[in-house]
Amino acid sequence: MSDDLSNLAWQRPTPAQPTVLERPRRITDVCGQEDATRDIQAFLEDALDPARPKLRCRTLLLSGGAGIGKTTIARILGNIALCWNPTEGHQACGTCAICKAFQENPPRGIDDYFEISAAEYSGVHAMSHLVALMRRAPLGRFKVGFADEAHRASRTGKDALLKDLEEPSPYAIYILATTEPDKLGAALLSRCHHVRLRPPSMTDRLHFLRRRCEVGWGLPPETYEPAALERLAVRVGANYRELAAALDRCITAGPLTTDTVDRLFPNPLAACLCSAEALLDNDLSGAISALVEAPGTPDEKRAAMQSLLLGLSLAGVRGVVTPYDPLSDVPLERRQALVARFDARRPQSVSLATYLEDCARFWGASR
Ligand SMILES: Nc1ncnc2c1ncn2[C@@H]1O[C@H](COP(=O)(O)OP(=O)(O)OP(=O)(O)O)[C@@H](O)[C@H]1O
Ligand SMILES: [Mg+2]
Ligand SMILES: [Zn+2]
Repeated sequence: MSDDLSNLAWQRPTPAQPTVLERPRRITDVCGQEDATRDIQAFLEDALDPARPKLRCRTLLLSGGAGIGKTTIARILGNIALCWNPTEGHQACGTCAICKAFQENPPRGIDDYFEISAAEYSGVHAMSHLVALMRRAPLGRFKVGFADEAHRASRTGKDALLKDLEEPSPYAIYILATTEPDKLGAALLSRCHHVRLRPPSMTDRLHFLRRRCEVGWGLPPETYEPAALERLAVRVGANYRELAAALDRCITAGPLTTDTVDRLFPNPLAACLCSAEALLDNDLSGAISALVEAPGTPDEKRAAMQSLLLGLSLAGVRGVVTPYDPLSDVPLERRQALVARFDARRPQSVSLATYLEDCARFWGASR
C-alpha cells in the first residue's frame, strides 16, 4: 500500500450519483457486450417494424453466465419496445410513465409487460398464464413477455411456451433469459434469435470497477489504488453483480487499497502455496490441513490450484510475471524458491505440476 493512501483518513464516501450504482437503464450503459448489443439492436429494428413479415423471429434468447446482464438487458428491451416516445435509433425516452415504471426493480404495473422468473414459478400454470396474457390484444403497439431463468421451467411449461412461439400473435415479443440454453430443448431454441452474452474480460471488469468508483461513488482516482481494483477483478471473477458488491464492501470498509482487498477477499492461492511449502518441509499433516482448511468450495479450490500452477510455472520457471497476476501479492523470490525446491527433488519426489494436478483431482473427487 502506498504511504499516501495509508495515511489517508478514510472518509466513507456517499454516492455522488446514486442512480449510477443501480442496474444500467440504457443499452449504452451495459458494459462489455458490444457484439451482443449490436445483434440485439438488429433484432429490435426487426421486431419493432410494423411492416415486418409475420414469419420473422420475435423471440430473443439471452444466454450467458450469472451476473453479466441478461435480466438487465431484457428489461431495457422491454422498456424500449413499450416506451411512449421512443427516440431515434430505438432509445427509450426516460421520462414517460412506462420508462418511470421500468426504473423499479422489478418493474411493476406496466400494461403490456409481463415478467416471470421460472426459478420461482416453474410449473405449466405460470407459463400458460404468461402465454394467455400475451395473447390478449395490447393496449399499445406491442406486448412483451419476459421469461427469466427459462431453463428452470418444467417440461410442460416449456411446451406451453413453445406452442405460442409456433403461432405468435403479431404484437407479441418474447424474451427468454437463461444461464443454460442447452436445457431449453432444440425445438424452443430453433424458435429464438439467440444472443450469447460473453463473460467480462479483465479489461471489462476494470472498466466497470473504475466507473463504479469514479462515477457511482464519486471517488477521484488519486483516492484509491488502481492495484486494488486489479486484485478485486482477479479474485471476484467474471460477474458484474459480485464485482459491484465486492467493491462496495471495500469502499465501505475503506480505504480502497490492496490491503483492504486482501483483508476482505483473501487470496485463495495462499493456502495452496502454504500446503506446497509444508510438503517440501516433509510436514505432510501441515500440507493436508492447509488444503482442507482453505476457504472456498471445491470448485474454487480447483480453480485456485490451477491458477497457482499457471502462476508458478510462468513466474518461477520462465521468469514471466503476467499482467493481473493472481500471485501478485506473493514475492517473486518466494515463488521461484518453491519451484526450485520442487525441481531439485525430482525425480525421487514428485514434480510441482504433478503435485498440483493431484491436489486438483483430490478436490474434484471430494465434492
Ligand atoms: N453488462 C453489465 N454492465 C453493467 N452492469 C452490469 C452488467 N451485467 C450485470 N451488471 C450489474 O449486475 C447486476 C446483475 O445483473 P443481471 O441481473 O442483469 O445479471 P444476470 O445475467 O441476469 O444474472 P443471473 O444469471 O444471476 O440472473 C445488475 O444490477 C448490474 O448492476
Ligand atoms: Mg437474471
Ligand atoms: Zn419512455
